[in-house]
Amino acid sequence: MSLVIKKAKISDSEFIYKLLYKFAEDKLLLPRSYNQIYENIRDFFVCFEDKKPVGCAALHIFWKDLAEIRSLAVEKEHQGKGIGKMLVKECLNEAVDLGINRVFALTNQVDFFKKSGFREIEKEALPHCLNCVKFPKCDEVCMLWQRI
Ligand SMILES: CC(C)(COP(=O)(O)OP(=O)(O)OC[C@H]1O[C@@H](n2cnc3c(N)ncnc32)[C@H](O)[C@@H]1OP(=O)(O)O)[C@@H](O)C(=O)NCCC(=O)NCCS
Repeated sequence: MSLVIKKAKISDSEFIYKLLYKFAEDKLLLPRSYNQIYENIRDFFVCFEDKKPVGCAALHIFWKDLAEIRSLAVEKEHQGKGIGKMLVKECLNEAVDLGINRVFALTNQVDFFKKSGFREIEKEALPHCLNCVKFPKCDEVCMLWQRI
C-alpha cells in the first residue's frame, strides 16, 4: 500500500466535493460548492492510496500569523490508518513554510486534533469566530496549533 499526499489539482474537485458532501450530511463538516472548491483549490491537499484519492484537507490563510485547517475528511473505509494525521501534518508544514506559526481548526474531533499537537482554546480568542453568525452558540470546539 502506498500513501502519497499531493497538492490538489482541478481534476480532484469532484472527489473533494463528493467526500465533503457525504460527511456534511452527518453534520461533521461544512459542504463546499464546486465554485468554492475551484476558487480555493490551491488550499487543498489530497491523499492517494495506490493512486486512488482517499482523503483531503485544506489550509486557508486568514491573517499574517493565522491559518485554518478546514475540509478535512478521510473516506470511512480508509480511516484509522494515519491518513488524517498525515494530511494535518502536510497543512502545518505548509503553514510553517509560508511563515505562519498559528493554525486553528473548528471541530468536534477534539481528541484527533490533540494527537496532532492542537490544544483547546476559547472561541473569543479568534476574530474569525467573533465574526461568525453562529457565535456564541456554535457547538464546535476551537483547537489551536502553535509552532514552538
Ligand atoms: C477525523 C478524521 C479526519 C480522522 O482521520 P483518520 O485518518 O481516521 O485519523 P488517523 O488514522 O490519522 O488518526 C490519528 C490519531 O487520531 C486518533 N483518532 C482518529 N479519529 C479519532 C476520533 N474521532 N477520536 C479520537 N481519536 C481519534 C487515532 O486513533 C490516531 O491515534 P494514534 O496517533 O494514537 O494512533 C476522520 O475520522 C474523518 O474524516 N471524519 C469525518 C469528517 C470529520 O469529522 N472531519 C473533521 C472536521 S474538522
